[in-house]
Amino acid sequence: MQFFIDTANVADIRKAEAMGIISGVTTNPTLIAREGRDFIEVVKEISGIVDGPISAEVISLEAEGMVREAKELFAKIGNPNLVIKIPMCSEGLKAVKELSAMGMHTNVTLIFSAAQALLAAAAGATYVSPFVGRLDDYGYCGIDLISEIADIFRTQQIDCKIIAASTRSPLHVIQAAQAGCDVATVPYKVLEAMTHHPLTDRGIQQFLSDWDSLSAN
Ligand code: E4P
Repeated sequence: MQFFIDTANVADIRKAEAMGIISGVTTNPTLIAREGRDFIEVVKEISGIVDGPISAEVISLEAEGMVREAKELFAKIGNPNLVIKIPMCSEGLKAVKELSAMGMHTNVTLIFSAAQALLAAAAGATYVSPFVGRLDDYGYCGIDLISEIADIFRTQQIDCKIIAASTRSPLHVIQAAQAGCDVATVPYKVLEAMTHHPLTDRGIQQFLSDWDSLSAN
């Protein structure tokens, strides 16, 4: 399973990239707004940090506008790794069909059911993004949806990658991997949490203090 980082914060992206574990980046309008910077400028800067798929989301609600925005993003950002993030809706599916016919990669976002994932894949989406954490927030099991979609795509031999999105904990990431997800997009703080275990941290301290006691003799 690949790791993408789910943020538009370039400092966090640089830190994750330096760890050597990320293959791509996902952003959304909320994450971009949180940075308070120009959308194009941020995605361009991210393009200079990560050599992999970078999802940038369109905000139009009609297919025509989505396709126009996608073309503008490609023209202004000039990164062939750009992935156009499209919200799940019938207009979005129309846009995915057109964009994939033009050879553009797409990520259909806000997936909350296997039926939606099937439609997105049928329209030609490169990725589908089921939102694990947001389902959990409403008393459903987000990981069950990931397993369901992974099972269907495997059975049907559907060539569309699943991104576990809205991951909120290391456990979400582990369970997404167990379910056979292709990618988990993970906030920096969760990636950082994944590096730790109390026994690892305590073990490092113990080795260092034992080493110091040796050199004190
Ligand atoms: C990723 O593609 C999504 O935009 C993101 O994971 C949403 O996460 P949230 O539910 O924590 O906002």
